[in-house]
Amino acid sequence: MFHPLEVSEVEQLTDDSVAVTFAVPPELRETYRHLPGQHLALRRTTPNGEEIRRTYSICAPATPAGQDPVLRVGIRRVDGGEFSTYALKELAVGDTVEVMEPTGRFVLAPRPGHFAAVVGGSGITPVLSMAATLLAQEPEARFCLIRSDRTASSTMFLDEVADLKDRYPDRFQLVTVLSREEQQSGLPSGRLDQERLTGLLPALLPVGDIDGWFLCGPFGLVQSAEHALRGLGVERGRIHQEIFHVDDGSAPAPAPTTGAPVHATLTATLHGRSGNWPVQEGETLLDTVLRARADAPYACKGGVCGTCRAFLVGGEVRMDRNFALEPEETEAGYVLACQSHPATAEVELDFDR
Ligand code: FES
Repeated sequence: MFHPLEVSEVEQLTDDSVAVTFAVPPELRETYRHLPGQHLALRRTTPNGEEIRRTYSICAPATPAGQDPVLRVGIRRVDGGEFSTYALKELAVGDTVEVMEPTGRFVLAPRPGHFAAVVGGSGITPVLSMAATLLAQEPEARFCLIRSDRTASSTMFLDEVADLKDRYPDRFQLVTVLSREEQQSGLPSGRLDQERLTGLLPALLPVGDIDGWFLCGPFGLVQSAEHALRGLGVERGRIHQEIFHVDDGSAPAPAPTTGAPVHATLTATLHGRSGNWPVQEGETLLDTVLRARADAPYACKGGVCGTCRAFLVGGEVRMDRNFALEPEETEAGYVLACQSHPATAEVELDFDR
């Protein structure tokens, strides 16, 4: 559910990124309490009446119950990206933005252990919240951050990450790899691909002893890191990932449609209310629900953010693509409504589970 929140701060991070903080009124304090790693969907209606939604990760540490949540997101401009361009050029303190409550299962709840992250570009955003929360709340925990960016000047949250290094010198390890800039002090430069990660990770860390790996960034980097870790013997259940950006050249093609179109009826439960509707040919199940229920949750409509996750109660669906759900979630019966088409005549979804 969206609420209008006032922008309380806009901070320029780099030439093409800002951090935006929203003021949370006292009555919504618990609604906007986040877990480290979660994101917010933001909604804006453009001057010509078009509604756009985007998800942005929360960079601020999670606060314990009883303290005010800090809602601060990192936004990097994407070429041609309507929302990010608006955020960088126009958004100002005092403006109101419609903000959905925090969601997402790419989270690290503080617990003792040794954790590591491989991030690229704006993929630092949720991981900054994870590392800062973990190190502040769990005195026994350690965190290693391996980050890659183009140049130092394009790197988001440089100061915040340096601050973690100063504050937790024994428990926070930082490795920065710049792809377009030579670095001093023998740090690696160039692109992080599977081969380089396979060599680099065991040199930095006891790979097999890491309790959780968090991979975040563009599709190519996340996939390279996952392959490298799997090749080094890390079990699937210890690897968590969130893809920020899928450029269609590097992503697998959608699953082909087989057989004749299924004329189906969808039953869906959403915010405690159920309904059923015919699925029109070619549309996704999210679009079917949206025709009747404007409160159906979604943001990217591209299989990336996971906001439209629903439990498949009955029937079968075919998903075009899925960059958001972990294998455990699909095995447990969750689907992305924005990518699902009916494969049986009756399909039932539950968005509340
Ligand atoms: S709306 Fe983002 S994955 Fe479906």
